[in-house]
Amino acid sequence: MRDSASNGQLAAIEIDGVYRAFPGVMALTDLSLTVRSGEIYGLAGENGSGKSTLLRMIAGLDKPDGGEVRIGGQRLQGIRSALRSGIAFVTQEPSLVDSLSVAENIGLGRHLDSGLFVRHGRRKAMVKEMLARLGLENLDLDMPASRLQPHEMQMVTIARALVSEPEILLLDEATSSLTDNQTERLFEILREMKALGKTIIFITHKLTEYLTLCDRIAVMRDSHFICELTREEANEERIVREMVGRELTQLFPDAPALSELTSPVLLQLEEVSCEGASDISVSFKQGEIFVLAGLSGCGRSELLRAIFGAVPSRGTMELDQRPYRPRKPVDAVQSGIAYIPAERKSEGIIAGLSVLENTVISRRVRERPWSRVKAEQERQLYEELKQVFKIKAASGATRIETLSGGNQQKALLARATSSTPRVLLLDEPTRGIDVGAKADIYRLLRQLTRDGVTVIVSTSDLQEAVGIADRIGVMFRGQLLQVMEQDFTSERVMYYATGNY
Ligand SMILES: Nc1ncnc2c1ncn2[C@@H]1O[C@H](COP(=O)(O)OP(=O)(O)OP(=O)(O)O)[C@@H](O)[C@H]1O
Ligand SMILES: [Mg+2]
Repeated sequence: MRDSASNGQLAAIEIDGVYRAFPGVMALTDLSLTVRSGEIYGLAGENGSGKSTLLRMIAGLDKPDGGEVRIGGQRLQGIRSALRSGIAFVTQEPSLVDSLSVAENIGLGRHLDSGLFVRHGRRKAMVKEMLARLGLENLDLDMPASRLQPHEMQMVTIARALVSEPEILLLDEATSSLTDNQTERLFEILREMKALGKTIIFITHKLTEYLTLCDRIAVMRDSHFICELTREEANEERIVREMVGRELTQLFPDAPALSELTSPVLLQLEEVSCEGASDISVSFKQGEIFVLAGLSGCGRSELLRAIFGAVPSRGTMELDQRPYRPRKPVDAVQSGIAYIPAERKSEGIIAGLSVLENTVISRRVRERPWSRVKAEQERQLYEELKQVFKIKAASGATRIETLSGGNQQKALLARATSSTPRVLLLDEPTRGIDVGAKADIYRLLRQLTRDGVTVIVSTSDLQEAVGIADRIGVMFRGQLLQVMEQDFTSERVMYYATGNY
């Protein structure tokens, strides 16, 4: 069983005319492609184009409605046969059990000790070594997974897959919470695996990662295979064009003229401290996009939570020159402050409810009970938001957890803006969002600022920070080191983010 490639490498994975339909949507339409052994294969496509569905199929977690998946020439028969073929899958949302420790999550739990301690000891050493290579040598393996930061959660999930020494490794947006440096460490490990003949399929929305890592890149659009590019043929514009089906002219909208930025202060923080951030004094102006930048764990997420009343804080806050003391999130919502957390699976979406309910729920909370939003109005509101945010869902009644990751994120953004907030707090708003949708979201945020909304964004994406911000505040170890007004570059942000000042 050889594929037609001239270099004669073995075909590790063959996707042969695969179809998969869900109620009201096609996820995969007559999809065929071949991934070779010893290859790093990129899978690109807009949100909802079918990437995760394809990986779930290769991992044996889902079955095609038609066509077949072959691993090493053998027809795949479900999850057991996938495991036998040595497949490891890092899913798009981290799949750790919150209540268990890191060690238990990686399969090092006490309950696994008996009888297996020889292998167990070796495995523990491997895990330690792997985490160290990923830059987490100091991570406490006995800590409950619920206390991990998003990037740590992602790293632990990756480490768990790597120590199983897979023949085939599937990575679904595994770098979405990682910094460039952490990603580079991972890439080094992946290249070593490739040299050993292992096969890797890699999905990301950071397009440069395809160019630095992948041998070939397949582009999908709307459930169809569109084309396959070699590393030599590929560049960012080309990938985008194939993904979106048109030229994408501008990722970031034009910033307003500086003269427009003399607006009054809307939200003022005076020596605000909370767990993870201390003595933060800063004023946010009406109608500006203020970006909080800094390395993961620098305190920017914590600061957003404090402003939203999701964690206790000290110090003083003023909203529109009046004291603002949020004790719980509902205080914030009623004062016109909306928030989207970085962890959409555990804190953002309300699983079990429909996408419609998920998008209009903030409006329900903000409206007084006696002026309850009527079902028909809610439907209208949802339809508007769906259009604006280009949410891809079969219907408003579709359960939110069945939407593709990027579309869940769009629904959350829609929810936050539907309550017509005065201040919008966004933690990693475009994580997992495709490049076309990013451009839409950035334009939308700029539009909101024109209506006077203050947008405060915490992001690990430097390009995003520099591209959308009116001002950038850089945090380091819980402190706000520097606020930059203009002329910011990624290099300057990085300079402060690493503790120089
Ligand atoms: N269990 C499910 N039930 C219903 N629809 C589903 C289910 N799983 C996937 N879909 C739909 O199939 C389509 C493809 O989804 P998929 O998750 O594969 O997209 P994706 O390319 O991974 O997107 P993203 O970049 O946003 O993660 C989407 O329209 C999604 O809503
Ligand atoms: Mg996906």
